[in-house]
Amino acid sequence: MNVLTSHSTHDAQEDMRNRDIKIYLNGDLVHRDEAKVSVYDSGFMLGDGMWEGMRLYHGKWAFFEEHMDRFFNSCKAVSLDVGLDKEGIREALAATAEANGMTHDVHCRLMLTRGVKAKPFQHPGLSRSGPTLVIIMEHSKPVETLQSKGIRLATVPQVRGLPMSQDAKYNSHSKLNCVIACLQAEQAGADEALMLDPHGFVNTTNACNFFIVRRGEVWTSSGDYCMNGVTRQKVIDLCRNNDIPVFEKNYTLYEAYGADEAFLTGTFGAQTPVASIDGKAIGSGENPVTRRIRALYKGLIQENIREQGGQI
Ligand SMILES: Cc1ncc(COP(=O)(O)O)c(C=O)c1O
Repeated sequence: MNVLTSHSTHDAQEDMRNRDIKIYLNGDLVHRDEAKVSVYDSGFMLGDGMWEGMRLYHGKWAFFEEHMDRFFNSCKAVSLDVGLDKEGIREALAATAEANGMTHDVHCRLMLTRGVKAKPFQHPGLSRSGPTLVIIMEHSKPVETLQSKGIRLATVPQVRGLPMSQDAKYNSHSKLNCVIACLQAEQAGADEALMLDPHGFVNTTNACNFFIVRRGEVWTSSGDYCMNGVTRQKVIDLCRNNDIPVFEKNYTLYEAYGADEAFLTGTFGAQTPVASIDGKAIGSGENPVTRRIRALYKGLIQENIREQGGQI
């Protein structure tokens, strides 16, 4: 049985096989206990790197193109030379999956940093020996309780910043803004943090995008201060294609507390229902719209896997 000391949207079922996985580290595949990066690495020292979370089903990476678009865009924006093209990344992923005998229900964290620095200081020019590329792949299925119990959110003082400080669209190694928010939520007795934007509108959670359902309409933030989540966009597209009214707009806690349903989106857990916000129960807990979107999303993944030649 899974003991819920901490309940988060990223709780995975225990899988003993993960104790002996091989990690991709700059072209080598090494046991997880031996997979080490330098203390001079810019990722360790400064959080100077970008990452992507993806899922493998039936031997294919779901929404691979969308994840690569975001990853390469982020790297370009911070002048981080990936050193490989999209197909090179695909090959590195394939080598890691093969070394681990993984084909299905797998989650990967693909991480690229500016690499080892010549001196322990901030200047990016001190990273002179090329980037560090790491791929961690685990057998991974979300725990059942995420669907049955939902997530308890607390609104926190930590907000999402303006794009000219650190744009929330960077999936950067440094997630301190989100980590602080998560700590504040835990201190308030909740599972995760609901974060507002600088104007006080409801924005996102510390690790997922956030949606509410009101009278059959699906609402999410304008998108200006949150991660440009792949799952977020897929949910918006699915709503549009299936006659579910969907709006990207500003709204406040007043409307969130009074929602009929609320759910989180992310690659790991797809759509996870929200049980409460600041101790206030959300809706009846039946979540018919969330369940419909979840079923549509499952179908979309299968379609995407088939398009890539995967056998379901
Ligand atoms: C802060 C934050 N929000 C949302 C997401 C969800 O994005 P996606 O749907 O692409 O997994 C992530 C995932 O990396 C994230 O870090």
